[in-house]
Amino acid sequence: MNKRDFLKISDLSLAEAREVLTLARALKAAPKGSHVDRLRGRAVAVVFEKASTRTRVSFEVGIGQLGAQSVILGIEGSQLGRGEPIKDTARVLSRYCDAIAYRTFGTKKLLEMAHAATVPVINALTDDGHPVQVLCDVFTVEEALGRSIAGMRVAWVGDGSSNMARSWLEAASLFDFHLAIAAPTEFRPPVAELAAAGAHVSVTGDPRVAIAGADVVNTDVWTSMGQEDEAQKRLLAFDGYTLTSSLLEGSKADAIVLHCLPAHRGEEIDDATIEGPRSRVWDQAENRLHVQKALMCWLIERG
Ligand code: CP
Ligand code: NVA
Repeated sequence: MNKRDFLKISDLSLAEAREVLTLARALKAAPKGSHVDRLRGRAVAVVFEKASTRTRVSFEVGIGQLGAQSVILGIEGSQLGRGEPIKDTARVLSRYCDAIAYRTFGTKKLLEMAHAATVPVINALTDDGHPVQVLCDVFTVEEALGRSIAGMRVAWVGDGSSNMARSWLEAASLFDFHLAIAAPTEFRPPVAELAAAGAHVSVTGDPRVAIAGADVVNTDVWTSMGQEDEAQKRLLAFDGYTLTSSLLEGSKADAIVLHCLPAHRGEEIDDATIEGPRSRVWDQAENRLHVQKALMCWLIERG
């Protein structure tokens, strides 16, 4: 069977995504240490060209909990930092490892890795998407609210052009929910991606409109990794987009707040909101572990 990659949300059909989320629930419910034979003898390389805390630790710990060996590679200290082509790295890693997770800048590099690798490649964040995070977040929404995300209203407040917003947009079509984006005009998803989402998305410049009736309210940093030169311009552009308790008043009574972290308190979210009763951000961070374990099993065991 041909290897499967997870480079974007739509690389999975709805049925396949449901298989992964169902397995994640089982893995989370199982006693710690009970699936240590699941990927015994396997190895997974996790390659970082950008900083990470959650992705690095959740992959490394998750791989260990499945009985496999993790190999963490950064730019510093590997030949990637000295210009070795991605496609050569991909072919070599494929000879040692059973899957590769890769965090990089442009999608072109991710695709080069995926095309040259003969083992599954998982997108661990690019400038254009963070699908593994959003798959985990769908799990968190359904766990927290106790029902399917299908038919829900998910508000996205802040940088609508970010990797996170764009993966949420893809998820809206796959899982059949509505994504209401509140973002300044110059920080919205690419037109083609909005068109592809059709009636699953609406866009406004008013956070209150997006949040009205929402089941889930979501935000992310205003300045993503690699955009540091634009930080001042972005602070001005996103003025008024901070998630606060008064902004959340228009959401549903049981609405939850998500943030993939790291957070900048006082910018995209205030301290009271991230620490408040609606916040599910710590469960959200934990669920990276369970869902990524399920995804790795799903990709590796079918090969
Ligand atoms: N949410 C997330 O991917 O966090 P890290 O950048 O710490 O991995
Ligand atoms: N949009 C953020 C997500 C961090 C996990 C970034 O790319 O920096």
